[in-house]
Amino acid sequence: MGKNENKYIIEPNTAEIARLIDQDHIFTTAMGGLFPEDLEPDIPKARSLLNLGCGPGEWESNVAYQYPNLTITGVDIDKDIVKYAQALADVRTLANLVYEVMDIKRGLSFDDNAFDIVNGRLLFAFMDKESWPKLLAECYRVVKPGGVVLLAEYEVTVSNSTVLQFLYSRLYKLLLDQDRTYSVDRRSVGICHMLPRLLKDAGFTEVVSRPFLIDASYGSPCISLAARILKLA
Ligand SMILES: C[S@@+](CC[C@H](N)C(=O)[O-])C[C@H]1O[C@@H](n2cnc3c(N)ncnc32)[C@H](O)[C@@H]1O
Repeated sequence: MGKNENKYIIEPNTAEIARLIDQDHIFTTAMGGLFPEDLEPDIPKARSLLNLGCGPGEWESNVAYQYPNLTITGVDIDKDIVKYAQALADVRTLANLVYEVMDIKRGLSFDDNAFDIVNGRLLFAFMDKESWPKLLAECYRVVKPGGVVLLAEYEVTVSNSTVLQFLYSRLYKLLLDQDRTYSVDRRSVGICHMLPRLLKDAGFTEVVSRPFLIDASYGSPCISLAARILKLA
């Protein structure tokens, strides 16, 4: 794979769109809602939001519906996913939601101080060690002074599901082969532990972490999602 090729681990197709929609439901539920509870009172005051690597648009279309005064831009590298997300916004008549095709590893094509909120979730699936500091510097540039950058990343869990344990053993190897893991022992993703330092290096002064847990036991919705990834890969 060439150095500049994108490294998202799953080929985009209709099954992947369906998987991303299910994944959104699992993560938004596990996180207790669209935004962290302590931030929710401030959301109605915000005017502009950018969602990075947005996928098929479930999260931001729910945000757009709930906060009609917020102008939302979703960006994703895949033009078919962007087309799908825009169609969803149009069907739901969400005039405050627009999309752009963008490879966020190559920079964010927006003015300085353009957004009150920048959101990114599960970006580890295509980021690498070289790209993280550059993306965080771009987030710092495009967020307004006093604005918020919300990043929700993933650290693997231990499961009693053979499927999930198998999937993760492959995932660690893949990430390591591509020099994308911050793991110290090849048994983790490592980005959650690195983000506070990387954010401070990028200039952010107030960095707050919130843990949340996803049940990945045998028989849970998370496992059927993992089983579908195995079939897609
Ligand atoms: C990494 S996940 C994020 C999903 C979404 N943020 C969520 O939380 O449900 C998958 C999305 O990342 C997109 N993606 C992969 N590489 C990208 C890149 N370099 N720039 C922007 N989006 C990218 C994929 O096209 C896919 O829609």
